[in-house]
Amino acid sequence: MATIETTFLGLALQSPIIVGSSSLTGQARTIAELAKAGAGAVVLKSLFEEQILNEAAREAGRGGVVYGHDDLDGFVSYYTKKHSISEYIGLIKASKAASPIPVIASINAISNGEWKSIASEIAAAGADALQLNLFVNPFDENRSADQLEALYTDIVRSVKAVCSIPLAAKIGPYFTAIPRMVRALAQAGADSVILFNRYQSPDIDIDKLAFHTAPAISSAGEYVQALRWVSLVSGSAGVPVIGATGIHDDQALIKMLLAGSPAVEVVSTVLRNGHKQIGAMNKGLSDWMDAHGYTSIAAFRGAMAGKAPADRASLERFQYIKTFGDAN
Ligand SMILES: Cc1cc2nc3c(=O)[nH]c(=O)nc-3n(C[C@H](O)[C@H](O)[C@H](O)COP(=O)(O)O)c2cc1C
Repeated sequence: MATIETTFLGLALQSPIIVGSSSLTGQARTIAELAKAGAGAVVLKSLFEEQILNEAAREAGRGGVVYGHDDLDGFVSYYTKKHSISEYIGLIKASKAASPIPVIASINAISNGEWKSIASEIAAAGADALQLNLFVNPFDENRSADQLEALYTDIVRSVKAVCSIPLAAKIGPYFTAIPRMVRALAQAGADSVILFNRYQSPDIDIDKLAFHTAPAISSAGEYVQALRWVSLVSGSAGVPVIGATGIHDDQALIKMLLAGSPAVEVVSTVLRNGHKQIGAMNKGLSDWMDAHGYTSIAAFRGAMAGKAPADRASLERFQYIKTFGDAN
């Protein structure tokens, strides 16, 4: 019978299913349940950079708010008091004590501010690895793509310098040159790159003429975006590239492994279908491996990875012309 063990960030995982950073991974008790349900690892809910900076400023006796926007300042202040850093450190320790699977801490970073020393506290608390959820604000029309991208790599480089545990970087899909960006993150010290985070977009309420937030839960078809880029860059990135967003069932999981991902991060499918979905996906993977004669993930991982991006460009162009060339 097939084994579905894999490795990620040098850690041995009993399953390639990592439950991603979310409300599912904010309590040691739930994390123990996810481990029992068959998860290979968890990424803890994120500490937010604002939270770290605000708490540090409060401790130093300075005002901690930074936005000059009443609602937001108030919320950050409230959030910081409610979710302290010591609580996060406690969550790492309790999760490690409660379950046998690797526990990956997470920081949601938006700048290369003075918050990085927290990485060493996270390592000291026993986290097996650290994932940076990176989003550098791209709304300033005076900042070029090069300047913005340099911030991503600066953050990774400076956290790596103080972090004794493996470091992963999770990025969104909105880059012009994704293969170059992934390689730059690897060169800056990321031991793995997660493709992709799913940003929450604002929507407009047409009666109230107000912005509101679109649903946080992904839909099943969304996995194709990550699939495309994982298969394109996994051969050239220099570090393992992990698929995330829209992976809702064993089929999408198998496709990501074929594209070269050694594991996947999932959230929405577990929120929607419950913890049992992890077992169902593990079983689907194992059955498929048995049916195809694969005894390990290594035996087929990357079989569909595009090792030559130049060839892939002509192939994708051909498919585009075939689909849309005669469509009107
Ligand atoms: C309720 C909820 C909370 C989330 N919180 C975080 C977070 O704190 N940090 C983070 O990096 N990602 C967070 N995410 C994003 C997920 O980790 C993941 O990237 C995203 O949901 C896409 O994966 P999925 O399609 O499997 O849901 C959250 C997602 C949801 C639905």
